[in-house]
Amino acid sequence: MTPVPDTAARPAEPAAAPAPLLVAAAGATPAHPPVWFMRQAGRSLPEYREVREGIPMLQACFTPELVCEITMQPVRRHGVDAAILFSDIVVPLVAAGIGVDIVPGTGPVVAEPVRTEAAVAGLPELRPDQLDAVAQAVRLLRAELGDTPLIGFAGAPFTLASYLIEGGPSRHHERTKALMYSDPATWHALLAALATITTTFLQVQVAAGVQVVQLFDSWAGALSERDYREFVLPHSSRVLAAVQGVPKIHFGVGTSELLPAMREAGADVVGVDWRLPLDEAVRRLTVPGGPAPVVQGNLDPAVLLADWDAVEREVRRIVDEGRAAGGHIVNLGHGVLPNTDPAVLTRVVELVHSLTP
Ligand code: CP3
Repeated sequence: MTPVPDTAARPAEPAAAPAPLLVAAAGATPAHPPVWFMRQAGRSLPEYREVREGIPMLQACFTPELVCEITMQPVRRHGVDAAILFSDIVVPLVAAGIGVDIVPGTGPVVAEPVRTEAAVAGLPELRPDQLDAVAQAVRLLRAELGDTPLIGFAGAPFTLASYLIEGGPSRHHERTKALMYSDPATWHALLAALATITTTFLQVQVAAGVQVVQLFDSWAGALSERDYREFVLPHSSRVLAAVQGVPKIHFGVGTSELLPAMREAGADVVGVDWRLPLDEAVRRLTVPGGPAPVVQGNLDPAVLLADWDAVEREVRRIVDEGRAAGGHIVNLGHGVLPNTDPAVLTRVVELVHSLTP
């Protein structure tokens, strides 16, 4: 045996252990299960309500120092394993010049709903420089975050289309579906335009330094698998294929029946809501002969309002069921509810970090 010579090239410093979230996203087992919460920045935090006082949501999203501060708040308070850029799915639409506002307690409201071939043809394009404030916020955050990864995100074409067609939040997405079934050519033109905008939004974030992206197709669960495959999947696939170099998470609500199709869209990690146990989600996502799927989820956000004993039982169950996956990022099955006690979120992080992945 030849002894390793003293002069062997060595790195100047030992490499830092990779962040647990990035290890899990790559389908490996980190030192402890990684955990973050969708909507971890926001109204559950008194420090958020304080800095947002008198500043409209969209104005906040285009003010880099404020985006940086609000994004950092849950990282400082809870010690979560990732930051998620404070922004909104309608930010790229606003940046492109489409008339959208975010109305407190309601959500996005569109000045002129997009329901015709002419309206789709008239949609503006999004130039990367219209997102300079977002890119600047990402750079500020990378400088502050150290080893904690920064997640960027965008709304998927279907969820954005629903807001544009309905003109605001919708329970049944009836106008959206009516357009989809009656005028498939206009539908596909709209989703293609939105896929291009979404791609630009994500590419600007990646170029500025986000280390993971999540594509939110929050309302895709309103569709059957057949319709999802025909009317949505090609457009989401195009977005995911155009974003390279970072792990990609694909998430929707009520998507138990869509999980295989959402995996096929090309993400590395599939987000699961609380309706399906993670071991069953893994079963549905498994491709014979393929690598074990990586999942994110799936605590019911409402459980956080129950007694601690119930919260602890549910968190332990989810970490147990997640062991069926190739990698598991612990999260909620949808966003933090505004009336959640932030102390419970901090306690969940401590509990998850004490468990074996
Ligand atoms: O911490 C994080 O998760 C990052 C921030 C984030 C926001 N919106 C901030 C926000 C993220 C990831 C989003 C995405 C988003 N926005 C989605 C997809 C995720 C999901 O929840 O399904 C959707 C559908 C929207 C559209 C939207 N924007 C809604 C439904 C609302 C809530 C309206 C309300 O007041 O109840 C918003 C506004 C919004 N986006 C707020 C925040 C913190 C609340 C505005 C405020 O604080 O005044």
